[in-house]
Amino acid sequence: MRTVTWDPETPSVRMIDQRLLPGELVLIDLWSPQEVADAIRQMSVRGAPAIGATAAYGLALAGQLSKAQTAQDLWHDLENAVDILRRARPTAVNLSWALDRLLKSAHAVFQEGPSAMRQRLVEEAQRLADEDVEINKRMGAHGASLINDGDTVIHHCNTGALATVDYGTALGVIRSAHEQGKRVHVLVDETRPRLQGARLTAWELAQYGISYEIITDNAAGYFLSSGQVAGVFVGADRVAANGDVANKIGTYMLALAAQDNDVPFYCVVPTSTIDLRLSSGEKIPLEEREPSEVLDLMLKGKPVAPEGSQARNPAFDITPNRLVTAFVTEVGVLRPPYREAIAHAVKESQEK
Ligand code: MRU
Repeated sequence: MRTVTWDPETPSVRMIDQRLLPGELVLIDLWSPQEVADAIRQMSVRGAPAIGATAAYGLALAGQLSKAQTAQDLWHDLENAVDILRRARPTAVNLSWALDRLLKSAHAVFQEGPSAMRQRLVEEAQRLADEDVEINKRMGAHGASLINDGDTVIHHCNTGALATVDYGTALGVIRSAHEQGKRVHVLVDETRPRLQGARLTAWELAQYGISYEIITDNAAGYFLSSGQVAGVFVGADRVAANGDVANKIGTYMLALAAQDNDVPFYCVVPTSTIDLRLSSGEKIPLEEREPSEVLDLMLKGKPVAPEGSQARNPAFDITPNRLVTAFVTEVGVLRPPYREAIAHAVKESQEK
């Protein structure tokens, strides 16, 4: 089942409301770019590639809803929708990447008029979503060689089918190794504060029949230092040209602990997550979310934090490239020095 799809009849964007998992599997329909942007901001859909595909469908929707009679007027409506969608979340570059790709495809048929542009937007959004699944499977195939039969690995956040259109990035690599018949055991970081690991990754692994145990985020160092872990697998929301990685908060500490214990740290990313415009990680915008996501934790029906507490809630952090053992992309496994390897991989992906 895909995380997000296009319904051409209505037209609307249909997605799994990830906020309700694992308790309930509910599909929601979104009818406007504003609703799509809200769903991204509120994390009904999340994960960099899934955000990209959803934004693409959101822009296709804007095309369908626009009453414009001329290409110029339609372009104006599309630009307004792009504005709304682009601001939904700041860190995952796949959002802007997908919107730019769709705008470019519509512009290519500008002279043919608004109907051709509308049709092109839907086709391009569909193509982007289909390619995402294919790219994930290619990354899975490349990355599976990094996992040996009997390995235990640590996984952070959710990078599976739910974080993409289908199959997954880092979780896709683990799935691929499992599908090859390797026995792999996953220690699932619960991933405070939104618990994408405990809620979503555990839910997916159970469905795939992959053995797992949920661990608290702060237990990862213990497992790494006690020789129980063969590798750490994470995704990313944005990778700078030098290989610095923006990913879910806690990734940096995990990478530090992995390096201190000589455990390889792998980052699995489609080239659409690489931002060559940014030379290093310090330029990546990092989202800080509502303190309520930290403070609303309840135990036995009561709030954990004293009333009136303040909190900070950065959603992402930067892992410097020196802590990354290798990147897995759809064009292969990249090893340092990353600036050259990354530039080459992006070029190769564009030639395909
Ligand atoms: O805040 P989220 O849940 O959108 O964060 C998701 C992550 O950090 C993932 O690791 C990243 O997007 C890669 S998903 C294939």
